[in-house]
Amino acid sequence: DPHAFIAATPTDLRAPCPGLNTLANHGYLPRNGRNITVPMIIQASLDGFNAGVDAIQPFAKFGLLSSAAPDTLNLNELVEHGLIEHDASLSRLDAALGDSLHFNEGQFSTLANSNPGVNYYNTTSAGHVQRDLLAQSIRLNVNQTNTPKEFKIRTRESAFYLSVLGDPLTGIAPKNFVQIFFREERLPIAEGWKKPNTLITAATLGALQTLIVAAADWTATQACETEILGP
Ligand code: HEM
Ligand code: MG
Repeated sequence: DPHAFIAATPTDLRAPCPGLNTLANHGYLPRNGRNITVPMIIQASLDGFNAGVDAIQPFAKFGLLSSAAPDTLNLNELVEHGLIEHDASLSRLDAALGDSLHFNEGQFSTLANSNPGVNYYNTTSAGHVQRDLLAQSIRLNVNQTNTPKEFKIRTRESAFYLSVLGDPLTGIAPKNFVQIFFREERLPIAEGWKKPNTLITAATLGALQTLIVAAADWTATQACETEILGP
């Protein structure tokens, strides 16, 4: 099976993104994490997650700016702080406080322990997790950056994990699937996960983001210009 899970070896490069890392660990992207093009990311996201081009292409193009090469990137280059990588991540430390590239169980504990009493995460719990991690980041990090750009990216990432591991229309995702995705960067196929039947689009993500925003109780601490990610 070309898409069997194989954990990254020490020479394989990986990103601060559990989505791209999972695609590489299952061979949808090159397992070495090197020389990756935008079309490769688009095809891998469709094949691995049923995520469509309008959901993926803007971020893939944006991520290309992290690379010195004209049209390829290595996954580790996405750690470039302030491009896509931001503070108050779900599973990585703030760049000013430590390792912003690799999974960190302490950082992940806020999400892991959210929505107590039930076995799923949803848009409300995702918004609360974003709120609590932002408060923690502001408390610990004097260099904390929290503009509308970071908030929009963080909210999109929350919508991504709810959609890929759960239902792209309801935003309900089983806790064990989400935890395996973050901790092992593995598709929880053996545990019963199936690729979503619903195509994940900018529209389905946007609908979930509206609900996450409502639960996140967010205000900016710095301003920024509106980011333009496409026509
Ligand atoms: C972070 C999922 C595609 C670049 C994240 C996070 C999730 C996620 C859940 C948050 C991690 C955290 O906060 O700890 C996905 C999924 C994708 C996808 C399911 C579908 C294929 C992409 C693409 C790019 C990208 C196309 C750019 C080429 C990043 C980067 C981060 C990130 C740089 C780090 C942001 C940070 O937490 O500081 N992604 N992503 N992702 N993603 Fe992705
Ligand atoms: Mg980060």
